[in-house]
Amino acid sequence: MTAVQPALPEEKSAEGSVDQRREFDRLIDADMRIEPRDWMPDAYRKTLIRQISQHAHSEIIGMQPEGNWITRAPSLKRKAILMAKVQDEAGHGLYLYSAAQTLGIDRETMFEQLVTGAAKYSSIFNYTTPTWADMGSIGWLVDGAAICNQVPLCRASYGPYGRAMTRICKEESFHQRQGFEILLELMRGTDAQKAMAQESVNRWYAPALMMFGPPDEDSPNSQRSMAWKIKRFSNDDLRQRFVDMLVPQAEVLGITLPDPDIKWNEERGHYDFGPLDWDEFYEVLAGRGQANAVRVARRKKAHEDGAWVREAARACADAQAAERMAS
Ligand code: 3HC
Repeated sequence: MTAVQPALPEEKSAEGSVDQRREFDRLIDADMRIEPRDWMPDAYRKTLIRQISQHAHSEIIGMQPEGNWITRAPSLKRKAILMAKVQDEAGHGLYLYSAAQTLGIDRETMFEQLVTGAAKYSSIFNYTTPTWADMGSIGWLVDGAAICNQVPLCRASYGPYGRAMTRICKEESFHQRQGFEILLELMRGTDAQKAMAQESVNRWYAPALMMFGPPDEDSPNSQRSMAWKIKRFSNDDLRQRFVDMLVPQAEVLGITLPDPDIKWNEERGHYDFGPLDWDEFYEVLAGRGQANAVRVARRKKAHEDGAWVREAARACADAQAAERMAS
């Protein structure tokens, strides 16, 4: 639905006075929150709109690879869990779109940016889900990576984003556990089930590591976002944290992570791991992944099919407003 956006007050879109800039810096330095009513630099606003809207798109597009399995889940229990999880992703998208709207962009514009490719969404959702084990891998690896990346975002300097992330992270941790549990059950099953779990992890492991974004030296936004306390850790730091978390969990599962270079490094106090194929990452970002075209086409169709809901909601809101005016 196109939300009616209040026009930004003059002082919020302009360069800002010395006092306004000083107050913004003071709040950031003191680890306090910037709220929608506060003055903020245009570049800070633009960075937040970029990141939050892309995050929202990822949640909504991210419903598709798992939605694909709802009708084919192997039991009623699995179907109910998967449906709840996919609904959670829809909710995450809505909190995030609402957080982005507080910065002065409307939903229709964000939607246009998504379907025209002007705004990105996470590379990971352009991979296909040919087996049931992929529901386990998405939960364990994709939601696991999402938690590593997103828990620090609960402390993001922009209030509406940080607060949305607090709720999202609680749900993501349930998502990760249900994925782990799917894989655990498969790994306790027949040889064919074990092979299916391993084959799936082989496909999802590297793309999950790439979710954290390009290496620090190739990340144009990180430095400034960290200075503004939107991001708290660099892409590589979070990737390392993720690998350190995965290795002992893989041991519990009895699954082999598909990287022969993974090795404990006593000196660093971390696991070393092998290089990633960044050409593949940039190919996916350029729209040439396994499923880019189908993901965006489905999103567009869902939006068009939902036009009557938006029209009905708008008519209802207009009628309620007219009633209020009359009383
Ligand atoms: N997929 C697609 N694009 C990516 C990407 C990825 N995995 N990683 C980086 N990029 C893009 C960036 O958006 C940026 O492009 P832009 O300038 O056109 O926007 C470019 O690559 C350079 O990357 P940077 O490292 O400079 O970009 P950022 O500083 O924004 O860092 C990020 C990238 C770590 C993804 C950061 O934006 C972030 O933390 N975002 C919030 C979390 C998020 O969006 N997660 C997506 C997954 S959501 C999810 O997993 C749903 C869950 O339910 C499973």
